[in-house]
Amino acid sequence: MPDALSAPAAPHTIRREDYRPPDWLVPEIALDFDLDPERTVVRSRLTVARQGDHNLPVRLDAQGLRILRVAVDGAPVNYWFEEEVLKVPVNGESAVIETEVEISPRANTQLMGLYESGGMLCTQCEAEGFRRITPFPDRPDVLSRYQVKMTADKARFPVLLANGDPVASGESEGGRHWAEWHDPFPKPCYLFALVAGDLVANRDRFTTRSGRTVDLGIWVRDGDLERTDHAMASLKAAMKWDEEVFGREYDLDVFNIVAVADFNFGAMENKGLNVFNSRYILADPDTATDQDYDGIAGVVAHEYFHNWSGNRVTCRDWFQLSLKEGFTVFRDQQFSADMGSRAVKRIEDVRMLRAAQFPEDAGPLAHPVRPDSYIEISNFYTATVYNKGAELIRMMHTILGPEKFRAGCDLYFDRHDGQAVTCEDFVKAMEDASGVDLTHFRAWYSQAGTPKVKARLANGGDGLTLHLEQEVPATPGQPAKRPMPIPLKVALMDGDTGKAVDERLIIFEDASAEVALDGAPARPVLSINRDFSAPIVLETDRSAADLAFLSGCDNDPFARYEAMQQLMLDTLIASVSSGAGDHGPVIEAVRRTLTNETLEAAFIAEAVLLPSESFIGDRMAQVDPEAINRAREALRADLGTELDDLWRGAYAASTANRYEYNPAAKGARRLRTISLGYITAAGADDAAELAMRQFDEADNMSDRQGAMGVLVNGVSAERDAALAAFYDRYKGNALVIDKWFTVQALSTRDDAPAEVEALANHPDFTLANPNRLRALVGAFSVNQRAFHDVSGRGYRFLADMILAEDKLNPQTAAKLVPPLGRWRRFDHGRAGLMKAELERIVATPGLSKDVFEQASKSLA
Ligand code: TRP
Ligand code: ZN
Repeated sequence: MPDALSAPAAPHTIRREDYRPPDWLVPEIALDFDLDPERTVVRSRLTVARQGDHNLPVRLDAQGLRILRVAVDGAPVNYWFEEEVLKVPVNGESAVIETEVEISPRANTQLMGLYESGGMLCTQCEAEGFRRITPFPDRPDVLSRYQVKMTADKARFPVLLANGDPVASGESEGGRHWAEWHDPFPKPCYLFALVAGDLVANRDRFTTRSGRTVDLGIWVRDGDLERTDHAMASLKAAMKWDEEVFGREYDLDVFNIVAVADFNFGAMENKGLNVFNSRYILADPDTATDQDYDGIAGVVAHEYFHNWSGNRVTCRDWFQLSLKEGFTVFRDQQFSADMGSRAVKRIEDVRMLRAAQFPEDAGPLAHPVRPDSYIEISNFYTATVYNKGAELIRMMHTILGPEKFRAGCDLYFDRHDGQAVTCEDFVKAMEDASGVDLTHFRAWYSQAGTPKVKARLANGGDGLTLHLEQEVPATPGQPAKRPMPIPLKVALMDGDTGKAVDERLIIFEDASAEVALDGAPARPVLSINRDFSAPIVLETDRSAADLAFLSGCDNDPFARYEAMQQLMLDTLIASVSSGAGDHGPVIEAVRRTLTNETLEAAFIAEAVLLPSESFIGDRMAQVDPEAINRAREALRADLGTELDDLWRGAYAASTANRYEYNPAAKGARRLRTISLGYITAAGADDAAELAMRQFDEADNMSDRQGAMGVLVNGVSAERDAALAAFYDRYKGNALVIDKWFTVQALSTRDDAPAEVEALANHPDFTLANPNRLRALVGAFSVNQRAFHDVSGRGYRFLADMILAEDKLNPQTAAKLVPPLGRWRRFDHGRAGLMKAELERIVATPGLSKDVFEQASKSLA
């Protein structure tokens, strides 16, 4: 008997241009699960309907399934297999296909499909996990109404959840029980979910604006219940915000969230049953940092917002992934901005974009926001699709203005409710609702690469002119590019008064342009790409004095932050190339920021932070990790020494008496640890003692982890004491022990590579849990100086980890590959060592297509 356990064929490329609508639809599906960790039996009943005039069989994707039975309209059928596709011949226009298969959740280490985590059973189907549960046309343009019955041992799995509404439940023989759930909304199979486990719920209610009462439940293991309040508050805030800002209301009577410890991603938006990585649910002041709290609010909101942007309106095919992800990231960013400081949120989002997306866009894995081809779709859940995708939506928001943008969203949801659509459909709705022509804007979806814009002011005879030039760099498969329409928010700052003049939006569409500016003051200073209005790399001829001036007075907070960053970058790059830079202007600008009483602490904290070592490297022709580290540490030391009294003042002022979670208290904590870092960088005698006191006396994780993070970079008795005390206090709490691994993986000490190798042999290290792997190995791979240790041991370590992880969980292994792909950015010696590791990976027999795609493309 043919069987889907047979090996997959050699990796082949899927192309966007090859899209064809499905030959068969599946309007209805009934699933019956006999759940058991070792051996689960899945019976399925599909109602299939022929689409169009053809004689093709029904194609059911099936991966790693043991097929027990296939029948059409109740009779056995001669089906066959082609490369993990079950082909079922059907004669009429419609039929009922029944299948019965066996799977083993316990043996599922990929965490795709139905798997066991911490004693519970849960599913992850996006993008192509449903085929690992039951044979089905596993593509997002096949939408079905689901009825799901689950039977399981009642003692081990007292709670049985699935999408939609619970409709019936009861007892079965042998200590088993069952539950049935129906989801009235047709959905693609990637949104299917079930959970069975011994769980408890934080329950609450939300009444929608039209009066529907929604029962909310956040399901966790018994001991975790008291750490779910922030997630619940975030969920209710998100539900309310989506009604107020986007006019979107929830559509079922039940909304459940389940937290699981082993998860490949952040969370998953399954209809009515979101499944979360526990790190994005569980928090209390003692175990979670402010950053964790913010992450929880953002991800809870993100998954909830998918109910409209993703679920009610879904994707036609996986090339359209940014249709739901870019849009939903934009939505969650706006939500978080409204909940806290808009300026600080924008700074954080841009930092993230620059740290993750810009390097991707500049390297061998660069791809358009709407990719043209892939081998393994899991490799395309990238910063480009998510974060650059969000920037595209933001640019449309900027170009159209908030009212027309909202009208475009309303039209999009209205026009496409219940459909599987494309990025093009989204842009079209924006155009139709606004009357704004977005023909050229579409290039942002199709062209990869971060545009470079040069801007300079020139004072000619007839006034002030802004000269602009743009260039979109070549990327794999796209050697030549067209100019892009770049929305630039621009203003002139008056060098005498510090006031903004002629604030305007320029849509810069051609390779070059000259824009006449009005009302120019005597001493104009250019403020451009304000609020980071476009995701570009900007080059201007502004002097250190201009940047210092802007950092003190620009009325756009992002531009103000950016001026400081640029000043710091220019200074650091000069030091790296010449060995010595003039630290004076940076020190004075930081002094002015620290003493400006009109600024919020959280903003000050962002503004005084030096650009990261990797960001400095990204702006250089060739990355010299040692020289960058030296230059940055030297500037840090000077800032620490010269401004010692101010850091100590800020430190003392930001010492909160008791923990509170609000924007002001968060900002104070952040500034506190950053000040501690500068006091330490100055080499102060009492620095370690001060850090240890912060560590010991902390009543919250931000302060405690912050102090440990400062100590870990030095040599002191306090360092060892803090690491030991932290481990002791939190052993057994996986999410906190992850922090203990990460803090050491990010160490700036010379022995960081050796420490990380030793930690990989720590009894608490495991490849089975993606969070733990990322905490150690993922963090190490972005520690520029340590990872790029000239010996190459960092590269070898990472490649060993990738190969080991690939045997268990290819999706998670593949996410670790990109740092090795940056070899072109380094000197000959390092590049050779990095390439050698990539070659070793590609040559490994039995490699997954996930890792194969990333490693082979990284070599090309
Ligand atoms: N769609 C999810 C989100 O962004 C994430 C997701 C995609 C995912 N693929 C996954 C989660 C695989 C877990 C495993 O909200
Ligand atoms: Zn998402």
